[in-house]
Amino acid sequence: MTYIKGCGHYLPARKLTNLDLSRLVDTSDEWIVARTGIQQRHIASETQTTSDLAFEAAKNALAASGTDARDLQTIIVATTTGDQIFPSVACLLQQKLGAPNAFCFDVSAACSGFVYAMTIANSFILSGQADNVLVVGAEILSRVTDYKDRETCVLFGDGAGAVVVSKRDQAARIRFSSQLSSDGEGREILKLKNDRNRDPFANTAAIAPAFIEMRGREVFKNAIRAMVDTSTGALNKAGVAAGSIDHFIPHQANERILTMVAQALGIDTGRVVKTISSTGNTSAASIPIALSQAIEAKAIVRGQTILATAFGAGLTAGSIVFEY
Ligand code: ACO
Repeated sequence: MTYIKGCGHYLPARKLTNLDLSRLVDTSDEWIVARTGIQQRHIASETQTTSDLAFEAAKNALAASGTDARDLQTIIVATTTGDQIFPSVACLLQQKLGAPNAFCFDVSAACSGFVYAMTIANSFILSGQADNVLVVGAEILSRVTDYKDRETCVLFGDGAGAVVVSKRDQAARIRFSSQLSSDGEGREILKLKNDRNRDPFANTAAIAPAFIEMRGREVFKNAIRAMVDTSTGALNKAGVAAGSIDHFIPHQANERILTMVAQALGIDTGRVVKTISSTGNTSAASIPIALSQAIEAKAIVRGQTILATAFGAGLTAGSIVFEY
């Protein structure tokens, strides 16, 4: 059986408050808090890279689980803001951790990346490919955020979360279950272009830096529908009723989205794990950060049932149910 042996997270020290943002664009603390629930986000320093954030979170997860990096057979990093196009963040992390026995790769599924990566890790464990998998969600979204666009710049932050997923012989009360979906028809409502892949003989000086482009209201509606649908699928596969979930960890996109998804599923708001006010939307890192913080605060304890759900560009979505 698959289980989470330990978790860790890392948030850069620098903070960007709503007041800071109101000096950059036409916005206010009142608007941001009322419409998103966000009060501040963490921003990586100029010298930090995504693999640096991943490294700090991974060290904490390895320590919490009592796992030696040499005992990892696989490292999977969910990210869309890698240090470079290749090698992957996972390979850079392998070198930083000293994990020579692992095979390593990144997963690109935007904000749903961590849920996709956990699903892959579970498959590797069940198929005997690996006994210990390090799964990391890590992002430096501040590098791809347009701080002149008030509709997006208030949302995003940087950070990393990590879990060691391992095999154990003892049967769990609940089997890990997953439901994933994608809808490429929604490609235009949330995107980050890569103009470096254009004609190499074109005038590259004219290529503007790429930033996240988003049609907020459409993302909002699709996020709720897809998170509810995949949550229902994962709960059905696990044979668990929404009402008996101990903790619900939605991707921290917007507090109104979290509340509406929980209501649609019939989960009490008291069971929703929320970190958005202090982290903003950290994309693939948001669920492992929230999980790690809740475990650190002893709000989540062993034996409890967790539902985690995510939605992002693609349009990707996914939900997992597991016993901690
Ligand atoms: N400050 C002040 N006013 C703003 C701001 C801002 N930062 N941003 C937009 N507004 C204005 C708009 O211009 C608009 O003004 P108008 O009525 O004069 O035209 C008004 O506020 C209302 O705009 P809406 O877009 O309708 O506001 P909404 O309540 O939908 O909130 C938001 C916008 C926060 C972007 C919301 O749609 C949202 O969260 N969408 C989901 C986006 C998301 O989560 N994206 C992340 C990536 S995917 C994921 O992680 C799920």
